[in-house]
Amino acid sequence: MGPFETVEINTDLLIVGGGMAACGAAVEASYWAKKYGLKVTLVDKAALDRSGAVAMGLSAINQYVDLNSGKNTVQDYVNYVRNDLMGITREDLVANIARHVDSTVHLFEKWGLPIWKDEEGNYVHEGRWQLMINGESYKVVVAEAAKNALGIENIYERVFIVEPLMDGDRCAGAVGFSVRENKFYVFKAKATLVAMGGAVHVFRPRSTGEGLGRAWYPPWNSGSSAYFTIIAGAEMTCQEVRFIPVRFKDAYGPVGAWFLLFKSRATNALGGDYMVERTDELEKWLPYGKVKPIPANLRNWLGMLDVMEGKGPIYMRTEEAIQKLADQYKDDPKAYKKKMKELEEEAWEDFLDMTISQAILWAATNTFPEQAPSEIAAAEPYFIGSHSGASGAWVSGPKDLAPPEYFWGYPNMSTVKGLFCAGDASGASSHKFSSGSHAEGRIAAKGAIEYIVKENPQLNYDANQIEELKKRIYKPLEIYEAHYKETTDPDINPNYIRPKMFMFRLQKIMDEYAGGVSSQFKTSKTLLEKGLQLLKFLKEDSEKLAAADLHELMRCWENIHRMYQAEAHMRAILFREETRWPGYYFRADKPNLDPNWEKFVNMTYDRKTDTWNIFTRDIIHIF
Ligand code: FAD
Ligand code: ADX
Repeated sequence: MGPFETVEINTDLLIVGGGMAACGAAVEASYWAKKYGLKVTLVDKAALDRSGAVAMGLSAINQYVDLNSGKNTVQDYVNYVRNDLMGITREDLVANIARHVDSTVHLFEKWGLPIWKDEEGNYVHEGRWQLMINGESYKVVVAEAAKNALGIENIYERVFIVEPLMDGDRCAGAVGFSVRENKFYVFKAKATLVAMGGAVHVFRPRSTGEGLGRAWYPPWNSGSSAYFTIIAGAEMTCQEVRFIPVRFKDAYGPVGAWFLLFKSRATNALGGDYMVERTDELEKWLPYGKVKPIPANLRNWLGMLDVMEGKGPIYMRTEEAIQKLADQYKDDPKAYKKKMKELEEEAWEDFLDMTISQAILWAATNTFPEQAPSEIAAAEPYFIGSHSGASGAWVSGPKDLAPPEYFWGYPNMSTVKGLFCAGDASGASSHKFSSGSHAEGRIAAKGAIEYIVKENPQLNYDANQIEELKKRIYKPLEIYEAHYKETTDPDINPNYIRPKMFMFRLQKIMDEYAGGVSSQFKTSKTLLEKGLQLLKFLKEDSEKLAAADLHELMRCWENIHRMYQAEAHMRAILFREETRWPGYYFRADKPNLDPNWEKFVNMTYDRKTDTWNIFTRDIIHIF
């Protein structure tokens, strides 16, 4: 392959990623950039219309605080998030998003997103904070607004960003390669906003050969945000706080609409309701065992205990829930029939809008949700700071809300100058979901523009450094080319490892030593130490990754990104000597929640010495 042309782009603000946070950033940055005569550029590894977690669409907006109604306050939302995360949360960051998210939702509606309305014209709520939408085209609608704001000439699609460009301790842009053309991209920027989503397929998924690639969170979110920020030297937080979602088994259909809108129960195979039968267990996890709603990880944990006692499978009682809702009309046969039809349609639309594969699985297995329950199960772990996990970079809060310890100049700037983060990329501010990620992208973009205007950093670029990066990034192609003819099967070769096999090795280590599905989410100090030893060998072998083409080259780098997320995760779990989120992971050698650990676990990585510095930071309440 090759030669590879170097394409240099000079810009003021570079937005890396094209998902919800990046699209929010694009809209906001364009507004301020016009005012100050600045240039904004966006780069995505895929195509904006359908990239990221919202590719298939969604069926709900999960964060809408509805401040205008007077029913909820910002503090209510902060309390909800803090409790759900067992106390580990940056209240300033959550509050900042909560006070801005409603305006983002109103923009979505203005741009054409259909939000369900009741007869009086009010939004239909799924739950207290969630709104129902007809969201199959959610991402297309949000991307269109971003494209209109930025101008198509400022958007680079199908360019995979590998790592940051640094000027000393400042972030000075990013480098990557086109996955379609022989082009190496060098983006030089005064500020860089990272929004490349979370990380999937770090752990072995439930679906291995037969359904490989099917996961709840999208497999193309491969830890690039984490890698980019770790390598830049940014302080990271909550790397131990993975998310284990309970999902409809095998096709990963979300459960929110069932639990909240349809008010369904989940029961074990014997008909027992673990949320009722196991309330005693919640006493062990006080004070968070007694909050409402019960934290997601504790809900998981109660179900897991049933499975471990042999009471599985666990079922979502769709048939019972639909029947109960329709029964309210049972005295009027015509109204009853109409309601049943409506409920059936809503049940299918939930998945057709958001997780089409779940609707396909229902069809393939002759499942009628109004007649029979469906199996649900705890999925493999994901890294997703925007949902019910919290991993990401440690970022500055807003001046008016953040205590001095949490404020260093510009909202959502990481501890590296000029490097901003939003969505899954920023940590300790969970429960932002699609709408909050978009709002946070807007907040971060405004902060980044302010940084550029005030500091106007004059950056230096080392041409040798860029040439070295280019060489290193394309190296897997050279390795393959040099050796693939030496064996009859190009998959098996003593000189290299292909990215799929490399990913399987990573996933096996994480699954067996860091508490994946096959270990029932349990781990311990000794297991983690052994896992880290094996990860070290994997890291050595990453130098031997080989790629047959540009697509496979992307797979190589995705897996290197995942590997760094994996290492940060294992080190953080090892450092936190307690079990705080039993339904996310269980430290079998430290089986209790310890109030002394009500702290953030943060870390930095030094690339030159390949060493990690891990420490705690205090939780400062602002409410
Ligand atoms: P994403 O939107 O995932 O965007 C990441 C972007 O980074 C993508 O454009 C990707 O292509 C790009 N990227 C990744 N790596 C690179 C790289 N190396 N170089 C360049 N670009 C890169 N939220 C709700 O509010 N309501 C719901 O009902 C809901 N349901 C969900 C259902 C499912 C099935 C899933 C998967 C998620 C759901 N969510 C829901 C959560 C929501 O989608 C996420 O919280 C949100 O999309 C996170 O935004 P983000 O910008 O951080 O990441
Ligand atoms: S989704 O992002 O894939 O749609 P999910 O379906 O789990 O996630 O949750 C959607 C929303 O409902 C989230 O805000 C989640 O916290 C909330 N939720 C899901 N199940 C419950 C439950 N049993 N109790 C309270 N909130 C819930």
